[in-house]
Amino acid sequence: MKIPYLVGLGVIVTMSVVVLVYDALIRPNHTSAISHDGHQHNEHHLEKTQLTIKDDHSSSNIEHNNALSQHRITPIPTNLIVNQPLAKVGWMLFKDRNLSSNRSISCESCHHLQTNGAEVIPISIGANGAGMRNSLTVFNTAYNYRFFWDGRVNTLSSQIDGPVHNTAEMDSNWALITNYVSQSEQYELLFSELGLEINEQSIKLSLVEFMNALTTPNSPFDRYLKGDENAIGESAKQGWQTFQDEGCIRCHQGTNIGGGMVMRFGYFGLTKTGQERSHDQGRYMFTGKEIDRHLFRVASLRNVAITAPYFHDGQTDSLEEAIKIMGESQLGKTFEDETIAQLKSFLEALTGQRPHILEVFENE
Ligand code: HEC
Ligand code: HEC
Repeated sequence: MKIPYLVGLGVIVTMSVVVLVYDALIRPNHTSAISHDGHQHNEHHLEKTQLTIKDDHSSSNIEHNNALSQHRITPIPTNLIVNQPLAKVGWMLFKDRNLSSNRSISCESCHHLQTNGAEVIPISIGANGAGMRNSLTVFNTAYNYRFFWDGRVNTLSSQIDGPVHNTAEMDSNWALITNYVSQSEQYELLFSELGLEINEQSIKLSLVEFMNALTTPNSPFDRYLKGDENAIGESAKQGWQTFQDEGCIRCHQGTNIGGGMVMRFGYFGLTKTGQERSHDQGRYMFTGKEIDRHLFRVASLRNVAITAPYFHDGQTDSLEEAIKIMGESQLGKTFEDETIAQLKSFLEALTGQRPHILEVFENE
């Protein structure tokens, strides 16, 4: 009896969430305080929304909204604690082509560590040719709550199974990888120094430790959030204001300014998005549920100015165009060029420092 009950509950929660999200979208002054205080499931996040949506129509609403918004984006912490020897093994595995079926591709082939943790081509090309989606950056993944463009996985550790098995990526498997790693004297030595046996778990552990260390703190906007008024220019300040007033922040929030929720891409028409944009059906392809059609994870906007091309299909080259599309498809608004330029300045202020750990490893 338990399973039908849970399914029923799931349907009710999902339905109420759809209504609430729609409601929040058509009424811009509604305040929904969604906090990200732990790795939770979607339903929990959204239940919280339900509890905290306020019916506040007072004239001071905008100010009130902004005060709240200030708390919804938090700077990337600078006091990162990393197990460096473990992360170093992860770094070596990340760059090792022998992990793929035909020994031609490493994680780094699609997630460039010299630049932005992603790559510049629209659609990634793996061990067996082209895949379907744009590579996501591995920088700041530590602050995501869901992974992949469709948010289908909740932890970084389970995320790794994706690229390892995907025929369009590494086209490999854990037996093959474990076998290769145990036969390497170099890895053998490093894992034994860590007191770890070589197996799927320890390999994942090292990759996750490495990826968790790939944070890009101290962006101009983070410094501004911490009180340095001069860290960003006038145009970026205007853009930040628009970002809050127009409601971008309702979806793009938290430390990663995204990466936490799954939303429909193309609320207001599908001309440039959804089905007419690409054949990608988003979360539906994973769950097969009608309600999940065109649901995608809200992209993180950290370093977005240096991670073109944009969107899951990588079909949008410029940031201006991406902002325009977001206005039209997610908010039903057509922005003036000046507004787009200001939003762009704000997004440019989200570019942080290259992960420190990479310099440490490169210079050892
Ligand atoms: C052939 C290119 C390719 C290779 C090789 C590859 N990836 Fe990816 N990676 C992608 C693409 C494309 C996505 C987005 C896929 C999606 O959303 O369905 C992605 C997504 C990710 C994400 C999710 C980021 C997020 O915020 O959700 C992480 C983490 C990641 N890859 C790590 C790895 C690791 C670790 C390896 C090596 C074991 C690896 N990748 C190998 C192309 C690749
Ligand atoms: C209703 C939720 C929602 C709102 C509101 C919203 N976005 Fe998005 N945003 C998304 C989703 C979902 C994606 C990922 C779409 C995809 O590619 O599948 C995204 C992607 C993006 C991207 C592309 C990121 C990348 O790496 O490819 C940019 C840039 C962006 N949004 C900026 C904005 C701006 C600026 C606003 C306000 C004008 C805004 N968004 C409002 C949900 C939203």
